Amino acid sequence: MDKCRIITVANQKGGTAKTTTACNLGYAMADAGKRVLFVDFDPQANLSMSFGIEAPDELTMPMNNILALVMESKPLPDKSEYIMRGEKLDIIPCNINLATTEINMRNELGGERTLSEILVPLRPDYDYIIIDSNPYLGMLTFNALAACDSVIMPVSPQLWSATGLSDLMQTILKLKNKKINPRIEVDGILMTICDERTNLYRDARKLLEEFCSDKIRIFKTNIPSTVKVGEANYSSLSVMRYAPNNKAALAYTAFAKEVMNSGA
Ligand SMILES: Nc1ncnc2c1ncn2[C@@H]1O[C@H](COP(=O)(O)OP(=O)(O)OP(=O)(O)O)[C@@H](O)[C@H]1O
Ligand SMILES: [Mg+2]
Repeated sequence: MDKCRIITVANQKGGTAKTTTACNLGYAMADAGKRVLFVDFDPQANLSMSFGIEAPDELTMPMNNILALVMESKPLPDKSEYIMRGEKLDIIPCNINLATTEINMRNELGGERTLSEILVPLRPDYDYIIIDSNPYLGMLTFNALAACDSVIMPVSPQLWSATGLSDLMQTILKLKNKKINPRIEVDGILMTICDERTNLYRDARKLLEEFCSDKIRIFKTNIPSTVKVGEANYSSLSVMRYAPNNKAALAYTAFAKEVMNSGA
């Protein structure tokens, strides 16, 4: 049994810091000496850009091409052709054409297992594989959920939606019950873009605890709101590297420890 854990960062609500969380969680794990692979599964390609890929549309072997090969039952090229190596960690990037691939996957028998077929053989190479998903509960997110061991749900006080969270939970339960992904677990809810001084933050945390804490863990660490996060994203750096003493850098490091100390 390998010790790799595949984590999907998901919330169909847009702008809740999914990509920022996937990115900084991955870098914090790499900083702790773990072997990490990012998987960009959002046609917006924000994680690919955060990694430093300036023109995802010019990629020769993006995720969408690999998925197409799997759907055509063709052999995959050598890993070195589709996994890009960075200084600290690796990525399978994607581009906007992933949106077209999603449409093709919908017409494919067992289409929601396509990503899983790509990731299973990579498990021995990594301690953590982190999948960034898109803000829509459709075939791409189903693939990301079918391929993972556990799910992290970033929620921001401004954008918190109880309905959205319960739809995501229902989908996870269905994947489990229908044996599409029997091993899937929810790691927990991470509160992001938080200003702890505000009533909005306090009310959202309270509501979340009332609504979920008997069913889902809410991570102790909150990610504070700070301009440094946007600046770090823009500079294609983790916030730990861009501003090591910043409160969000410390929070993402603490959050990564919580994740690494839980589960597998
Ligand atoms: N802790 C933070 N403090 C301030 N701004 C933040 C923080 N985290 C994320 N942001 C900003 O919020 C915006 C949304 O973040 P991000 O792109 O990570 O969200 P997302 O959930 O991936 O969005 P989408 O649903 O479009 O994929 C970005 O402009 C990002 O820089
Ligand atoms: Mg995103």
